Amino acid sequence: MSTTQQDIDKIYEGNLKFWDEAWKRVTKPHKELPKLPYIHEITRKLKKYQVKKVLDLGCGSGWLSIFMSKYGFDITGVDIAGPAIELGKTWAQEDNANVTLVADDLLNLSFADSSFDAIVCNSVLEHFRSDQAKVLFDKIHKMLVDKGFFFGCFDAVGTGKGEYFELPDSTHVYTDLMRQGMMLRNYTDQELKELFSNFDILSFDKNSYGSRLVWARKK
Ligand SMILES: C[S@@+](CC[C@H](N)C(=O)[O-])C[C@H]1O[C@@H](n2cnc3c(N)ncnc32)[C@H](O)[C@@H]1O
Repeated sequence: MSTTQQDIDKIYEGNLKFWDEAWKRVTKPHKELPKLPYIHEITRKLKKYQVKKVLDLGCGSGWLSIFMSKYGFDITGVDIAGPAIELGKTWAQEDNANVTLVADDLLNLSFADSSFDAIVCNSVLEHFRSDQAKVLFDKIHKMLVDKGFFFGCFDAVGTGKGEYFELPDSTHVYTDLMRQGMMLRNYTDQELKELFSNFDILSFDKNSYGSRLVWARKK
């Protein structure tokens, strides 16, 4: 049986619902910095590039936004999950952090063109279908100033255990209890590079977890 656009839209709604429900179960923001060696590299490079305004895509409860704000950047974080944004707002207020946190779908963002000097996106793209990834990257390109910077961590996913069915573009849609509705797609290096066709790729590294760490600059 073929998958209709209506089915695909419904599946996407289910995926957004998964994130909302998942974050509803979290009672405290994830304040501890994850042990990711590239975190300090992000702020070091943003400083070097003399960036001021940064957008954090899929910010969760805000650890990366709040971390970056400590270095003097003006940060906006966006996540679809209202409960995550609420946790982040409380944390930001307690820490007096200069961050604006917004609940929205990354595919619906309405920031004006050229709003940000840099955009970061940590472990988020994997939750979009390939057609949506293209839409997102067009938006990223538009929201960046001329020669603006992008950093992304793209995880190697989809090989672990789990029950799921596949969409025509190989996106997994999970059916097991823990991840009911969540979409996950593995992006090949070639696909990632295609998403950056309007950017100069500055580095394209792989870390010990197999994640791709990409720095790029808007052409
Ligand atoms: C794997 S988590 C990563 C969170 C955070 N960037 C980090 O490094 O911990 C993926 C995040 O993307 C958010 N997300 C998923 N789909 C989204 C969408 N369509 N729009 C906005 N946020 C989304 C989820 O709510 C979740 O917080």
